Amino acid sequence: MCGIVGYIGKANAPSALIRGLRRLEYRGYDSAGLAVLDGGRIEVAKAAGKVSSLQDRTRELWDQDFFNRITTGIAHTRWATHGPPTEVNAHPHLDQSGDIALVHNGIIENYRNLRSRLEAKGHHFHSETDTEVLAHLIGDCDKGDLFQAVCDALHQVEGTFGIAVLSSREPGKIIAARRGSPIVIGVGDGESIISSDASAILAHTQRVIYLDDNDIALVTIDGVDIRDLNNVPVTREVAELTMSESAAEKGGFEHFMLKEIHEQSEALSNAIRGRLDLEAGSSVLAGMGTSPRDLAELTRVVLIGCGTSLHAGLVGEYAFEDLADIHAEVQQAAEFRYRNPIIGNCDLVIAISQSGETADTLAAVREAKQKGAFVMSLCNVVGSTIARETGRGVYLHAGPEISVASTKAFTCQVAVLLMMALRLARGRRLSREDGLALAKDISAIPQLVQKVIQQEAHIAELAKDYTKNDHAFFIGRGPMYPVALEGALKLKEISYIHAEGYHAAELKHGPIALLEKGTPVIALACDIPGKDKTIGNVEECRARGARILGIVTEGDQEAADCMDDYIMVPRCHPLVATIPAVVALQLFSYHVARLRGCEIDQPRNLAKSVTVE
Ligand code: AGP
Repeated sequence: MCGIVGYIGKANAPSALIRGLRRLEYRGYDSAGLAVLDGGRIEVAKAAGKVSSLQDRTRELWDQDFFNRITTGIAHTRWATHGPPTEVNAHPHLDQSGDIALVHNGIIENYRNLRSRLEAKGHHFHSETDTEVLAHLIGDCDKGDLFQAVCDALHQVEGTFGIAVLSSREPGKIIAARRGSPIVIGVGDGESIISSDASAILAHTQRVIYLDDNDIALVTIDGVDIRDLNNVPVTREVAELTMSESAAEKGGFEHFMLKEIHEQSEALSNAIRGRLDLEAGSSVLAGMGTSPRDLAELTRVVLIGCGTSLHAGLVGEYAFEDLADIHAEVQQAAEFRYRNPIIGNCDLVIAISQSGETADTLAAVREAKQKGAFVMSLCNVVGSTIARETGRGVYLHAGPEISVASTKAFTCQVAVLLMMALRLARGRRLSREDGLALAKDISAIPQLVQKVIQQEAHIAELAKDYTKNDHAFFIGRGPMYPVALEGALKLKEISYIHAEGYHAAELKHGPIALLEKGTPVIALACDIPGKDKTIGNVEECRARGARILGIVTEGDQEAADCMDDYIMVPRCHPLVATIPAVVALQLFSYHVARLRGCEIDQPRNLAKSVTVE
């Protein structure tokens, strides 16, 4: 996720800005930059890569006298969404005049229209970013009052923003504003600090003000004046930060994994935003790079990945077959690359990878391209190797996933795969009515997930009875079978309990021999086709003494009564139901591991990105 720091106050502002950016490094980023006011000029330093590269750049550009006389500046760490992670695309961005600098978190959805309008007025752009368009728009609105110019510009923006703006024409002030992307302001002793994250403010003060959506703030060395976008004053309370700096990095959560589980509503909103066509009952995924004709000629979809990404692919397999009447299959990436696969130009190969750097998946992409397949990727990291080597695909926009155990990336992968399948299906046999129904359920996913997260206390309480077992089984049918696999992977990789996922019908073909009194069986028994058979499998397990935790659909008390414990998840399309169901398992696994005192974010033996075979 991008990071913002603004500072106004004492000498040596560049050092304060760099220190602030370092506090935000954990959020993940791929370039950084800062802009400072020096007399009547704006001076800018940017660098692709890490904050240390930016610091080196500032040392190349400026001497200590310069550092000492600077009191105002803004800075940014960028997580690329529009345009690769290059110095040109790094923030801050300047307006046409070069007198206004802007840093921005969020996504400007109508930036193309705004850019065209500005180009028609003679504006020239240097980057591929939506942010540079906003900088130019503010400059275009500036009639001598920066605060009003920012208000006027933001009234034209569709999408999300957290911004900080300064102007060489109006020194001694920074304008901050937010809609959908956090901005927090700290007023210290003779200094004011703006950031997207409280952890960058703690070094200066513990008294902070969180802006609400559509708030805009005038920040000076003496304090802050907050108004709405119609320039009407608003009052925001001053909060006292009690968390430690390391806790602040995690947004107040104990672990990154829990933070990322809780971020899923926002992450899924970002993954889905602007990609559903609720008129045609379809999806709009420009990155797929395929015309309806090309899609119609495809005869098979092959989904490749590893670990959690492989499990997302298994959900996608059901989606493509159920919705688009096209043969779909999942291949474990390492197996794909060595089995000399039968692949041709009528095959759509989708490489799924959060990091975009997994060696086995990258090698599978190269093999698929070698054999002439139509290859695309589903990645979270913009500009990652797999994304670049496929040259087409869809980014997750889930934001950086720090915890080794993948959570928000998985649910965003599934959501994007459902939208891909919907697009393919609507070019084939799926009716507009059925497409619309699915599209509406997909658009509601962030709310469905939030309803499960609101049950965290109940799930944490349940977890207490499952911390002592050495083994656990997860079972499911249909698209809930991959959810069972994913739930088992979550539990085993962070709690070190030996957990296995099985198709519910598979237990009696051997694994049921392992059941003893009290062995946990986590059953995905949501109200989707096959539920009754799963309930039958649950009864088989209970008859052998197993303890059953059921994931059941809201209101399905009949299914709940078959379980020893249960978690209810919202009713929705069977394919969509995989997402709230897995969130319940994520929280369950997290709390079991936490009660077992495990190192959750960095489990033993594991790496976040497996870049070796
Ligand atoms: C899942 O929790 C693990 N972190 C692991 O299985 C991961 O999904 C796998 O290594 C694939 O990583 P990728 O999505 O970055 O390619």
